[in-house]
This record gives sequence, C-alpha cells and structure tokens, in this order.
Amino acid sequence: MVGLILALDVMDRNRAIWLAREVSEYVDYLKVNYPLVLSAGIEIIRELSEIKPVIADFKIADIPYTSSLIARKAFENSAFAVICHGMAGSDTLKAVLDVSDEFGGEVYVVTELSSESEFLRKFSDEIAMLARDIGCHGIIAPATRAERVAQLRKIVGSMKILSPGVGAQGGSVEETIKAGADYIIVGRSIYTSDEPKAVARDIYERIKGLEV
Ligand code: C5P
Repeated sequence: MVGLILALDVMDRNRAIWLAREVSEYVDYLKVNYPLVLSAGIEIIRELSEIKPVIADFKIADIPYTSSLIARKAFENSAFAVICHGMAGSDTLKAVLDVSDEFGGEVYVVTELSSESEFLRKFSDEIAMLARDIGCHGIIAPATRAERVAQLRKIVGSMKILSPGVGAQGGSVEETIKAGADYIIVGRSIYTSDEPKAVARDIYERIKGLEV
C-alpha cells in the first residue's frame, strides 16, 4: 500500500476544510502542524477527522510527562496518529506510545528532517532502530534524500515510512517511493496551487503507478 498525505500548513480554518474536501479522494491522511492548530485551534483536528484521518505533526520532543499530555490532547481531539521526535529518547517515545495505545492510535517518529538536519543525521539510523525496537508504528524519513529512505527501510523492515520533502523541497515522488516509502507527504505543491485537486490527482496517479 502506497499513498498520499496532505500537509495542511495553511493558517485559515475555512481554507483548510475546503482543501481537505477538495482533495479527499486522492489522499489517505491529512497532516496538521502548528501553523494550522495555532491559527484555528485544536478543534480543527476533530473537524478534519470527519473528512480523513488526521496525523497531528506536533513533533513532540519534551520530557515523557509533558509529551504524554501533548499526545493526549491530540488523541482526545480525534487524531489518528501523532508525530514525535526520536531525538527526545526512549522514555519519551514510550510515554507517547502508552497514550496512543489507550486511544488505538499510532506514533510516527522523526528520524531526520527533510531540511539540512545536520545534527539529527548523525543519529537517524539509531533513532529508527529505537522506534522499531519499542514498537512505534512508523518513521518519518526525508524525500529530499532518497538514499536515506532506502537505508532507513533496511532498518525498520515492515514499519510504515512517511516521507515529506516532495515538490517544494525538491524531492521526487518516483525516487522516494522506489526507495521504500509507503506514503508521500505533500504540502505547498498542492495547497498553493490554483488547482489543488488536479495536482493531488497527478501525484496520486504517479504514486499508484509505482505500487508493486
Ligand atoms: O510544503 P511541504 O510539502 O514542504 O510540506 C512538508 C511538511 O512535512 C511540513 O508540514 C513539514 O513540517 C513536514 N515535515 C518535513 N520534514 C520532516 C518532518 C515533517 O518537511 N522530517
């Protein structure tokens, strides 16, 4: 199964809802991040969940207790999954996993960012091993460096790999899927387009054309 995730980094509730509806037949999940939640309130997760399951990309990276509170807010508002920073360490990931278990939710772990990420890159293999060993559901790996997606795939086996960085950040849909990603995360290429539905359809068809 390969698919598309829309990164909804817009700052307006109505625009977010409109975009989500517009592309819903081509996306598997909606990903919300701080720009939207800080603008529209956390209730936006619940509203969007009525259209598609929502991944709360809060890049949780705090001490275990605080991290668990953040995760709980996301799941209480109907998030399907949360994204955690693996750099926070095993105790934080375990605390977030415990909360996700209560809600039947999932936890995805950032290994390295799709941007320069020069510090995380030194540890991203170890972060992926940790995410695998403690039972997280997936990792975030950079579409901007397909060779890293391939390497991380070797480490995580059948865990989900979600890859941001296609389009605006320069990553390629085809190279990222061939390297082993399950889901491509795309934001600006879709939501800044005059025809978001057509762009989402094009990416969806390219992804599905590569499905083995
Ligand atoms: O607009 P664009 O397609 O570049 O959006 C990428 C999305 O993925 C943003 O929400 C960004 O925060 C997120 N992300 C990323 N790299 C990571 C993790 C998340 O670009 N490693």
